[in-house]
Amino acid sequence: MPMKHCKIIRLPKIASGQGNLTVIENKKCVPFKIARVYYLYDVPGGESRGGHAHKNLEQFIIAVSGSFDVRISNGKKTKIFHLNRAHFGIYIPPMYWRTLDNFSSGSVCLVLASKPYNESDYYRDFQHYKNALRKHARSSAK
Ligand code: TYD
Repeated sequence: MPMKHCKIIRLPKIASGQGNLTVIENKKCVPFKIARVYYLYDVPGGESRGGHAHKNLEQFIIAVSGSFDVRISNGKKTKIFHLNRAHFGIYIPPMYWRTLDNFSSGSVCLVLASKPYNESDYYRDFQHYKNALRKHARSSAK
């Protein structure tokens, strides 16, 4: 899974003397149709979230307040994206392992997802994920 498929996307920012506004429209600003929105907040200092990959789900993650790191692995390499602006987000296609950490105090992590919640879409074990990647690589080589 090429790491370059995980990419930072800049969102529109409408700035005025009264503050900033960022808007996200379905399929326009993010490369999928949004089916679900959730957010992480009150994450205690030093805690991490994520620690899983998704079989089919696409996600877009934004630090709408504060900052945190998104560590993405494709089973071979790891890349760290530091999110700290409300008009930038990271797009993560299916089959990338992600861990979120280094949450600043009061930070809010907004996640847009392409499908409803489904526990069977998760790989929560890194070794299972790596085995699935190998199968995936074999079937796409055929
Ligand atoms: P999880 O996806 O593991 O959270 P994170 O990646 O932020 O660490 O989900 C944590 C718990 O919340 C888990 O029990 C499943 C539940 N959950 C839902 O019920 N619906 C959802 O949309 C999400 C994302 C999680």
